[in-house]
Amino acid sequence: MTVHLSTPHSESPLAESPLGPKSTPKAINGTPDGVWDFASQDTQYATHGLHTYVAAMIPALARTLIDEYVPKKGSVLDPFCGGGAVLVEAIRSGREAVGRDINDLAVLVSKAKTTHVRADEIQTGGARVLARAKEYDGPSLRFPKSDFVEFWFKDYMLMPLTALRFAIEELRDPDLRTLFQALFSATVRSVSLTHRNEVRLRRMTPVQQEYFNPDVFEVFRKYVTLAEERVPALPTGAKASVNKGDTQRLDLSNEEVDVILCSPPYGDERNGVNYTQFAKNMLYWLGYNRQSIQASKGHSLGWGKRERAVPPSRTLLDSLEIVSANPASEREAIAFYSDYYKALQELARVARSRIIIVIGNRVLNKQVLNNGQITVELMDAIGVPLEKCHFRKLPTKRLPKMRDFGAAIDQETILVFKK
Ligand SMILES: C[S@@+](CC[C@H](N)C(=O)[O-])C[C@H]1O[C@@H](n2cnc3c(N)ncnc32)[C@H](O)[C@@H]1O
Repeated sequence: MTVHLSTPHSESPLAESPLGPKSTPKAINGTPDGVWDFASQDTQYATHGLHTYVAAMIPALARTLIDEYVPKKGSVLDPFCGGGAVLVEAIRSGREAVGRDINDLAVLVSKAKTTHVRADEIQTGGARVLARAKEYDGPSLRFPKSDFVEFWFKDYMLMPLTALRFAIEELRDPDLRTLFQALFSATVRSVSLTHRNEVRLRRMTPVQQEYFNPDVFEVFRKYVTLAEERVPALPTGAKASVNKGDTQRLDLSNEEVDVILCSPPYGDERNGVNYTQFAKNMLYWLGYNRQSIQASKGHSLGWGKRERAVPPSRTLLDSLEIVSANPASEREAIAFYSDYYKALQELARVARSRIIIVIGNRVLNKQVLNNGQITVELMDAIGVPLEKCHFRKLPTKRLPKMRDFGAAIDQETILVFKK
């Protein structure tokens, strides 16, 4: 299939781009080659540890970039905020934090991690929720068979989870309720029969299940204790502005935020990191249904069935020629990069000074899609030039290094664009 660029591309961006084959990335902060490695850093400090998320940004990376590029008291937007790592670091460093995500779980968790609540309120709220839950004598929640929720839990867990969900709904203070819903969600994830630290759901073996019998109330109580220690330590009165939103159509005005800092999805949800799959059990327990979860998924980059054109990137076009041997993969790639281009245009519209994108490569039909280079070319077409680029070594090497910069899978590219 022949594909056409949707808009004319500017002259040879590869020749000028610091990501091009012949150039070297600029070094900053005294690092000799611009390569960062946060491998040994703690990722669970402060409110980061309250709830896990897939493909989360390393907090130390977020903090380094915020300190370097965001004015003191300035604002940071993460339009793909996920588990809230960027927003937490923005709030902790005294910046204003704005977050958007299409996934309801991401919105809930990000809110909970970035809203200051007093220790005594958490303590009283936790005691009340646990007491009410232990009194509960109604029926346990049941889910439609087709949702496969109960497949991921043992029967004895259904009653305490139901009781906690209803007890939390009784809380009147919205910030406290959001916090406890996030702690409940963390509890759901912790007691579910899936392997930990894996990006996709995978059920424990029968033998593993036999030895896995957590006390649901005790798990929840531990999260409450963690929250009592971490949430009040956020700056007093801190609260990020987090809402559900599609980055292709941001509800923000032109140049409303100083800096955008984000790690976008890579469009590999079918085979790689699947945010909907990760979130679904927690969302079902929180009261969301299949329709609402699917509706959100339909707005994720690359989903939905509408016609799309190939966005203006020479590197993408070259890769698509190879990928086109498999028309389904080609369609999938076009759908994602077309939506990604729309999102980048929105980022260029709402940022006042810089747009920082942390992105890794992706493999489709054994072809490496150089997301760093593609992003530089798309931003070039939008008219926002690259100012600097850094690399971060990823802990696990999945593929040998490819020909030129940014093509390796064992590293992440950090692109800093300046308006
Ligand atoms: C790589 S994750 C972000 C992780 C985040 N930086 C963190 O530290 O947890 C990408 C996020 O993009 C979200 N997303 C996908 N399509 C979106 C869209 N159209 N608008 C807003 N968010 C979207 C996904 O739900 C996912 O949470």
